[in-house]
Amino acid sequence: MNSTDPIGLFDSGIGGTSIWKEVRALLPNENTIYLADSKNAPYGLKSKEEIIFLSEKNTEILLEQNCKLIVVACNTATTNAIKELRAKYKVPFIGIEPAIKPAALQSKTQTIGILATKGTLNSALFHENVAKHPEVKIVEQIGHGLVQLIENDAIASEEMTELLKSYLLPMVEKNIDYLVLGCSHYPYLIPQIKKIIPAKIKIIDSGEAVAKQTKKILEERDLLNVSNSTPTSLFYTNSSKDVLQKILSPIDTIFYKNF
Ligand code: DGL
Repeated sequence: MNSTDPIGLFDSGIGGTSIWKEVRALLPNENTIYLADSKNAPYGLKSKEEIIFLSEKNTEILLEQNCKLIVVACNTATTNAIKELRAKYKVPFIGIEPAIKPAALQSKTQTIGILATKGTLNSALFHENVAKHPEVKIVEQIGHGLVQLIENDAIASEEMTELLKSYLLPMVEKNIDYLVLGCSHYPYLIPQIKKIIPAKIKIIDSGEAVAKQTKKILEERDLLNVSNSTPTSLFYTNSSKDVLQKILSPIDTIFYKNF
């Protein structure tokens, strides 16, 4: 394994690019490869076994490309499959989980809201995490349909606004002062969410924490890329390149790959 090898990231689709953006910002010298498994989205409605199978498939594609570290840029895949991935492969994995801890520590109303997929909210890892915070009331909400709308290029649609209202307003009524976005697709909904919930409710996600943890692990293993060559970022999707291109910059290179 070399320090110039890429960091691999995968998600059930385009949402994990919100994590890729944080990694890119903190580690601009790193080569990256991003896999958007949009063909199989949403993972949130699949069984644990199916999520493990898809996560292993994605991992093996990234390992074929010599990735030195893999970011599981999907809460659903992390909470259902990261233990199995770590047991099976030697490469270091960084996972993403709903940021319950910072919200719980800072909440003044002792009530926090979590919007995430069914697969995340039903996972054992999520329940373990919740059990560590008996000091707060946690209002859980499944974001039914949100990932599908994002994958179908309907972020700013009326349907999205109506769905978000139906999920968020009951949480507001329960007096939450933190809203945790527990799905890597959801940071793309922040502009709409801000129009629905009062400004005093803080929105948090885990993107920055994942980037910091990635940097820490690379440093510890002496794997930070210190070469002077211009880094490359490659994106692979097994679905529409257009939808992915819209949330990236026009200069980012996206390839179609059947996986
Ligand atoms: N981005 C995934 C996550 O963070 C979405 C899961 C899905 O495809 O349902 O959970």
